[in-house]
Amino acid sequence: MNVNREPIRVALLGCGTVGTEVLRLLQDQPEEFAARTGAPMQVTGVAVRRPDKHPEVPPGLLTADASALVDGDVDVVVELIGGIEPARSLLLRALRSGKSVVTANKALLAEHGSELYAAADEAGVDIYFEAAVAGAIPLLRPLRESLAGDRIHRVMGIVNGTTNYILSEMDATGAGYAETLDEAGRLGYAEADPTADVDGFDAASKAAILASLAFHTRVTASDVHREGISGVTPGDLAAARQLDRTVKLLSICERVVDEDGGESVSARVHPAMIPSTHPLARVGDAYNAVFVEAEAAGELMFYGRGAGGAPTASAVLGDLVAVARNRVVGGRGPRESAHAKLPVQPMGKTPTRYHVSLDVADKPGVLSQVASTFTDHEVSISVVRQQGRGADASLVVVTHTAADEALRSTVESVARLPVVRDVVSVMRVEGEPS
Ligand code: NDP
Ligand code: HSE
Repeated sequence: MNVNREPIRVALLGCGTVGTEVLRLLQDQPEEFAARTGAPMQVTGVAVRRPDKHPEVPPGLLTADASALVDGDVDVVVELIGGIEPARSLLLRALRSGKSVVTANKALLAEHGSELYAAADEAGVDIYFEAAVAGAIPLLRPLRESLAGDRIHRVMGIVNGTTNYILSEMDATGAGYAETLDEAGRLGYAEADPTADVDGFDAASKAAILASLAFHTRVTASDVHREGISGVTPGDLAAARQLDRTVKLLSICERVVDEDGGESVSARVHPAMIPSTHPLARVGDAYNAVFVEAEAAGELMFYGRGAGGAPTASAVLGDLVAVARNRVVGGRGPRESAHAKLPVQPMGKTPTRYHVSLDVADKPGVLSQVASTFTDHEVSISVVRQQGRGADASLVVVTHTAADEALRSTVESVARLPVVRDVVSVMRVEGEPS
């Protein structure tokens, strides 16, 4: 390919865990990038908050003035700052002045994706964001492009590396929550504010992006039911082990069809027990894995490193090459596809299954009192296990599928029974026949 073309000028906003790796890889193999895109790639500047803290960046490139960098002679802006502002304003400014954008910023896309798409459309430029969900794993491009001719029913998986690392370590080694969270930060997996990871905000943003792409509907982070892992106790993990299950933080996006054929979208993030034999149970460390169920394609599974500097940089660079190629040949990547406009189903109406572990008095009639409370709420029981321990007994109930609000109120009623001494663990169950 002829690469005697004017360079593609790239502004890098942010040079932290991911930005450092993007810059390193870009500088490592300039000829390769030139050959792949059809033009040399030239980094025109690197904006950071504290220029004095970046010896790895050639001093001539560093600036603390991201706006000036965006306003300069630039073709593509790569945003790796994170958060909503100033990232949103900088990217709108870039798009409105005809620059294409590559970003890994799921929080921004899940809140302001439509605004960014609209600005890209008006200016006739690209916005790519493969790194925003599941790090290195090519997942968004398959959803946006490869599966564009199919009908997707479900996208379910582990999309937050930090919480997967924490749960895997706690389960395997008995390590404490705080120490594993610190380690996830040191390894570059956690967000700048790690509560975004542990409280499920990061996974909810990713679920919103996945649901939007899969179901051609605008879904924002606030549409996603969100529960994090800070409430997951060693008791939950032990309860799961007793039933040969494991606990994972899952993101689940589904197309729901009601009795009248009406369709809606359900999007939720919460910890769930899955069978130890389920492929997601074996996903450890900061790895991510996502199942996609589509009408014609059937089941697909995507697996790989979901966090960390180099893996995420791989996805950013893939987007950068795509954007650069589009600029070289004069084309554009996919635009927003939100024509289906499906309503979002409230969590209370979503069919789920519960695992409930109780400490109860070990005396006659206890089991029937607990069972009839489930019956009163029209919740059907799938599994009951009782084990006596002197005056107390451990009672585990796994339900069949019911509306989440019915399951919640059942647990509240069970907890009020005088024979129930403690509700040890309540967790949804996924990944097995209902
Ligand atoms: P870091 O916190 O490591 O880096 C953020 C960078 O942005 C730093 O270089 C910081 O400068 C710079 N920055 C902050 N504020 C400004 C500002 N106002 N102007 C210019 N620069 C600024 O974040 P990560 O690299 O971990 O994440 C970047 C993005 O990638 C986020 O959107 C994140 O969600 C996403 N992401 C991260 C993954 C990961 O594994 N880390 C994986 C997938 C996506 P300074 O260094 O001087 O403080
Ligand atoms: N903090 C995120 C995670 C980074 O742990 O998955 C990748 O998006």
